[in-house]
Amino acid sequence: MYNAKAYSAASATSSLGSTTITRRDPTERDVQMDILFCGICHSDLHQARNEWSNFNPTVYPLVPGHEIVGRVTKVGSAVTRYKPGDLAAVGCMVDSDGTCPECKAGLEQFCSNMILTYNSPDKHLGSVTYGGYSDSVVVDERFVLRVPSNLDLAGAAPLLCAGITTYSPMRHWGVSKGKKVGIVGLGGLGHMGVKFAHGLGAHVVLFTHSSKKKEDALRLGANEVVVSRNTDEMQKHAGSFDFILDTVSADHDINAYIDLLRRDGNITLVGAPEKPLGVAAFGLIGRRRSFSGSTIGGIRETQEMLDFCGAHNLTADVEVIPIQKVNDAYDRLLKSDVKYRFSIDMASLKSG
Ligand SMILES: NC(=O)c1ccc[n+]([C@@H]2O[C@H](COP(=O)([O-])OP(=O)(O)OC[C@H]3O[C@@H](n4cnc5c(N)ncnc54)[C@H](OP(=O)(O)O)[C@@H]3O)[C@@H](O)[C@H]2O)c1
Ligand SMILES: [Zn+2]
Ligand SMILES: [Zn+2]
Repeated sequence: MYNAKAYSAASATSSLGSTTITRRDPTERDVQMDILFCGICHSDLHQARNEWSNFNPTVYPLVPGHEIVGRVTKVGSAVTRYKPGDLAAVGCMVDSDGTCPECKAGLEQFCSNMILTYNSPDKHLGSVTYGGYSDSVVVDERFVLRVPSNLDLAGAAPLLCAGITTYSPMRHWGVSKGKKVGIVGLGGLGHMGVKFAHGLGAHVVLFTHSSKKKEDALRLGANEVVVSRNTDEMQKHAGSFDFILDTVSADHDINAYIDLLRRDGNITLVGAPEKPLGVAAFGLIGRRRSFSGSTIGGIRETQEMLDFCGAHNLTADVEVIPIQKVNDAYDRLLKSDVKYRFSIDMASLKSG
């Protein structure tokens, strides 16, 4: 074991502060890396504040962070794909059983024995896994990803969650040229959703509850922008969408978007608000519409997404911050005030 610097939350009501954690020495299948950048996902905030207590209660201290880009420092004797000095990345998962039907299908995110990067049982050291708000991490090679060398690293980090979470359902539901696609919410996930939908050739409509994001959404690749509280504007799109991706982090009226789907259209929820959403039966049954969910993506698809981003030179739009600003960043996330992902420069951890 060795000591690593980190930032943690001590309780649901405390802010994050500097701490020291223990990491395992790399076993034969492990990759150890120095963390260069870690994105801030709204899921970090939900869990720091124990807002998902019904699904996965937070164990404190919590070290969040699952959008990790780093440089390999050491590898175990059985590691074949990475060597010291390589750039590498880690997303939301660090382990799974590797034997169940989900794992065999490359869908580790649905494995019932999947281990999340933080706040999951740590089979090596006891207690729980600690995430990327840290200077170092050790991860099984199977869950380490390769970062295309042309990508800006601060902007590449958010691909590991915001990227794959939006890419995966769009691929699953066939987003492509000729499809009309809605993205709800222009935050970390939403802005990646706009970029991917545009990159896949769809006609993209961005829905926002913030009146000041219109220009940015168009610049990011949206063809149209609708301010969701404007019911006339919403009505113009009734019954017209093939697919809508809902990335909203807070309570909201999902029926307003279900009504915009055409016959057999699908709305996929990736946002994970604390409270259940009320779905009106007739919005779905009238036109055989479907409402589904999606979570991150498997390792194989995450690498495919990273390679797609490499080929299209696509990264997140980031505000790079030192770790000492993490609590301000959380306050701003709650106000939907981020352009459009915070990426922590982990070199800042050296100074406290
Ligand atoms: N399924 C998964 O695997 C997965 C993965 C990552 C994250 N998530 C979840 O996805 C959600 C979004 O994460 P994120 O990191 O993208 O968060 P984020 O950057 O905070 O973006 C959320 C966006 O939702 C909109 N929004 C916020 N409050 C709203 C309200 N009261 N009414 C309507 N719209 C509101 C805002 O967009 P506008 O200002 O444009 O309206 C905001 O920018 C979170 O719940 C997160 O936990 C799920
Ligand atoms: Zn995330
Ligand atoms: Zn499995």
